[in-house]
Amino acid sequence: MSKIWVKKPMSAYEADIKKSELKRVLGKWSLTAIGIGAIIGGGIFVLTGTGAYYNAGPALALSFVIAGIACVFAALCYAEFASILPVEGSAYAYAYGTVGEIFAWIIGWGLILEYAMGSMTVAVSWSGYFGKLLKMFGLHLPAYLTTDPQTYIAAGNSGFSMNLPAFLIVFFVISILVRGTKGAAKANNFIVILKVSAIIFVIIAGAFIIFNSAEPFKNWIPFIPEPTTITENGVSHSAYGLAGVVAGASAIFFAYVGFDAVSTQAGEAINPKKDVPFAIIASLIICTLLYILVSLVLTGMMHYTDFNPLGKYPDAIKAPVAYAFDIAGYAWAGYIITIAATVGLISVLMVMIMGQSRIFLGMSKDGLIPATFSKVNPATGVPTKNLLILGVVIAVVASLTPINDLAHMTSFGTLFAFTMVCVAVWVLRIKEPNLQRNFKVPALPLIACLGIAINVYLIFNLSKEAQMYSFGWLVIGFFVYFLYSKKHSKLQNGGYGETFKAEQEPLEKHDLD
Ligand code: ALA
Repeated sequence: MSKIWVKKPMSAYEADIKKSELKRVLGKWSLTAIGIGAIIGGGIFVLTGTGAYYNAGPALALSFVIAGIACVFAALCYAEFASILPVEGSAYAYAYGTVGEIFAWIIGWGLILEYAMGSMTVAVSWSGYFGKLLKMFGLHLPAYLTTDPQTYIAAGNSGFSMNLPAFLIVFFVISILVRGTKGAAKANNFIVILKVSAIIFVIIAGAFIIFNSAEPFKNWIPFIPEPTTITENGVSHSAYGLAGVVAGASAIFFAYVGFDAVSTQAGEAINPKKDVPFAIIASLIICTLLYILVSLVLTGMMHYTDFNPLGKYPDAIKAPVAYAFDIAGYAWAGYIITIAATVGLISVLMVMIMGQSRIFLGMSKDGLIPATFSKVNPATGVPTKNLLILGVVIAVVASLTPINDLAHMTSFGTLFAFTMVCVAVWVLRIKEPNLQRNFKVPALPLIACLGIAINVYLIFNLSKEAQMYSFGWLVIGFFVYFLYSKKHSKLQNGGYGETFKAEQEPLEKHDLD
């Protein structure tokens, strides 16, 4: 039983890196674009209305600051790890080298919620945006081709239905990913330029509208509204005040999900120890600044109470940013936003699926999941079968289940991984203080403790269903570990040969360049 805490020795990571067939094609800015590509998606265009109306009011910008800080603590910890272990696998790999196999396994299993389930929810949101885009051009897809069967039947219909756009977009993305990382990174760079331009447009145009109005500051006053209770369909919940600002941070957290995907690409980075930490922190800071400005502009353009779904603009909460421009008389700006969100979500999907495939690659190399997931196509340098299996599963689930409701589980998986990385970085500092680190988290026990506290707090602020389902998912993970992974673990079964004996060797004897 004690073997479940076995740690992967540095010599085994070295062996993995030497044997790696992945191509090192990603530079500093491509990695940063991968971070931005994964972060900016539907979240900023959709969740801002919910956060403003139900939680924070104009102080939504402060909710973005809080969620951003929670992410920065975790990002610093990710960056330190990435500077030590330049391998794919992200939090899973970091935990395997420091805390032990069972801990790493459960993090890897939790990461499926972040990346695979995140991909499913993103595919479904993309389908929604694509529908809006078609409508702008006067086209309309029938409900049976855009709705999962459960939702379709619940709406009083009968017969066949599936979310066809969600299904097809996954395969479109897979078709880019299987051609190689260099091409995927180019496509991502292009999309990132497009969506960042759209966000900058929102900020500048929004500020222009606000400051040209008769009373520019009126919607921001009071900035933190008095706490109150909102009752809707017989259900009450408290809103606003400082507690509302914090609850708002949980509500919009999904908008930040993705920066850690940079760490899953370490195996393809040209200079991973320096560039991965840089890209993690740079992408997060850029997006945090953009998000704060977008939320200020949004709550300045529209009074937060106007996002009430039972009020005079019942649809505003579904597409708050586009709606704010519509109401201000600039419907065409709403079109730009819809196009940016539709195209932008493709890169979120791309990076998330890429991230999941690299985490599976790492787990498969260690024997914890089947070997098929670590077969790399020598011509393209990517794990083709792994990507195809993922593609089929993600496309089928996204097109046939009402996955949209489960977006909070993606946040759970992410917050869980963030918490564990904060724990692991601290553990490694205590156990291996002399290890060579190209990047060090400043004021470590403090930053790690704050990271753990904020991320755990945000987990408890997620919906009860998400907590329950995610917890259930982790319990299933333990069963899978004991029934399959433990038996096939390379480390437990001598699969790493001599390297297993090196487990007790001090880490600083190894250089993973
Ligand atoms: N952060 C990504 C989004 O907002 C997942 O879509």
